[in-house]
Amino acid sequence: MKRFVLALMPFLFVACSDSEESNSFQEKGQFIAQESFKALSGELQSAVARGGLEEALNYCKLNALPLTDSLASFHNASIKRTSLRFRNIENKPDSLELAVMVDYSEDLKLGIQPKPRVIEDANHARFFAPIPTKAFCLNCHGVPGKDISEEINMQLTELYPEDNATGFAEGDLRGIWSITFNK
Ligand code: HEC
Repeated sequence: MKRFVLALMPFLFVACSDSEESNSFQEKGQFIAQESFKALSGELQSAVARGGLEEALNYCKLNALPLTDSLASFHNASIKRTSLRFRNIENKPDSLELAVMVDYSEDLKLGIQPKPRVIEDANHARFFAPIPTKAFCLNCHGVPGKDISEEINMQLTELYPEDNATGFAEGDLRGIWSITFNK
């Protein structure tokens, strides 16, 4: 499967190299992913402290994308979180993101920890890093009725009628960071 996916996009994957430039895109990408994660999880935790998970859910609905967008303009890059099973259609993966996630899932199945990577073409450097599912995430991304309370489940159905981002278990690949730099 891995080989199949790689074979689909030779021109993009071939461009992936260990050059100094891609190392620096790797470092920049990693830094931005960490900063964005800290910003999002900090906001999430204060929303939980203010008004519990329900408040946090509303907060994410209203602010997750604006927050990553403002970090993106600050860093002069585009910042996206995406998933094979996404909650917000705006986070839908493109074909390269899809291929990277399929690859990461294969890694996990083989017991290998998926690693951040940079894939370049002539005009862009694209950084990807796995987002693992932690126990806390299950409150809103786990199994309804088991990890997700009745109230949260109702709120999810109302806010995201097409929600696909439940049923995850701890350690699953929840999604990826996808950060794009112009060259
Ligand atoms: C309070 C509920 C809540 C918790 C807890 C939560 N999330 Fe989410 N998550 C959301 C909502 C709501 C969205 C959709 C945000 C939007 O509309 O842009 C989302 C979206 C995402 C996305 C973007 C892809 C998609 O599905 O649309 C990722 C990745 C993600 N969450 C990962 C995590 C991780 C990892 C954790 C644990 C560290 C976590 N979430 C904890 C509510 C939550």
